[in-house]
Amino acid sequence: MNKEWQQCVKCGMTYDLNNVVYQCTCGSMLEIARDPAIFQKITKDQFKSRRLSTKDIDRSGVWRFREFICEASAPHAVTHPEGNTNIYQRDELSIFGAVDNLWFKHEGENPTGSFKDRGMTVAVTQAKKIGLSFVGCASTGNTSAALAAYAAQAGLKAVVFIPDGKISTGKLAQALAYGAHCIAVQGDFDTAMTLVQEAGRDCGMYVVNSINPFRPEGQKSIIFEVLEFFDYESPDWIVVPAGNLGNTSAFGKAVLELYNAGWIKKMPRIASVQAEGANPFFKSYKNNFAKLEPIKAETYATAIRIGNPVNFEKAYKVIQSTNGVVEEVTDHEITIAKQTIDRSGIGCEPASASSLAGVKKLVAAGIMKKHEKVVCILTGNILKDTDAILKSSTNAVKVFSGDLKKLKELLAAL
Ligand code: F0G
Repeated sequence: MNKEWQQCVKCGMTYDLNNVVYQCTCGSMLEIARDPAIFQKITKDQFKSRRLSTKDIDRSGVWRFREFICEASAPHAVTHPEGNTNIYQRDELSIFGAVDNLWFKHEGENPTGSFKDRGMTVAVTQAKKIGLSFVGCASTGNTSAALAAYAAQAGLKAVVFIPDGKISTGKLAQALAYGAHCIAVQGDFDTAMTLVQEAGRDCGMYVVNSINPFRPEGQKSIIFEVLEFFDYESPDWIVVPAGNLGNTSAFGKAVLELYNAGWIKKMPRIASVQAEGANPFFKSYKNNFAKLEPIKAETYATAIRIGNPVNFEKAYKVIQSTNGVVEEVTDHEITIAKQTIDRSGIGCEPASASSLAGVKKLVAAGIMKKHEKVVCILTGNILKDTDAILKSSTNAVKVFSGDLKKLKELLAAL
């Protein structure tokens, strides 16, 4: 029997690892499953010590956990390398969130500036491994930048479908610069997502959105790194911005696997935070996850401007099994949280700041406690959305008119 395979999350039907399949015949989503014996053959120290190696595959914050991600792919890995991002603590952010023990894992430190690199290295590796040459995705910007970079490295043709006029200039420029073909879709991310699935069916394009089960496997490594940092003593909460719910699903799978393998004794609770104008998951949560009602999404945090998240089926189970919560925050709350993160010197893109805004709200509601250990995931780099900064910044550029005396007065008044 193979040690790793694809499996339906609902009926348990299995598929060979190398089948190009995004959905079970029963209509449900697929995930990567593995022989639990794999968990016995590797130690925490081995994962850690690989960081000291000079090989890319070991230095990657994704592939150093390969036994828990996709061991069969490792010899083919298309890796930057990625991951091994920093984790920060800042007094002013703890004060803002009203939590004493508050941490920030900065996924904006990945090679293309977002957590997407972690999933993309695994999906593009799979494409290369099974001999595919044409890859594509729908994106609010970060997935497209990551795909463009990894496809360039692997020598694959990449097409990205983006909502026209609704992604930041920086992200679009990144995809173009790395050489991806960009198709601007009249409509929103959800329209682009439908198109991409059609192109996957009819045009021989390998879809690397998170419906592809290899993507979340890579994103699990965010959690592996967080838990490794805390010596496998789970924090009380992991707080994540939520759009298409790929991370929420991946995080749940990661904590469950570590828990079942006996590596952690306590499950951290997962808090998914949505923007109020893009909150179908929050609404469904409030309705005991009875069903997901797609909405027309609108928020200034364009990365999470998603009204019909494709990973709902996996994500709601994660909230249930980790005793998690779903929160919503307004664009104003996101803006204030972002400015606070930026002024602390850490910086992030707007969507990322919904995590801190969510913490503040959950503490105020008495759901999160001041003494609890909380880890926020900052999903994207501050430079990802400079348009948003310039629109909302209170710190305006001062113009030097050529009058030296006035300049000196200005400097003295700072
Ligand atoms: N934060 C950032 C910076 C993102 O780019 C995304 C998603 C999310 C949070 C939400 O993560 O979808 O796993 O719930 N961006 C996708 C993209 C949709 O196309 O770049 P999720």
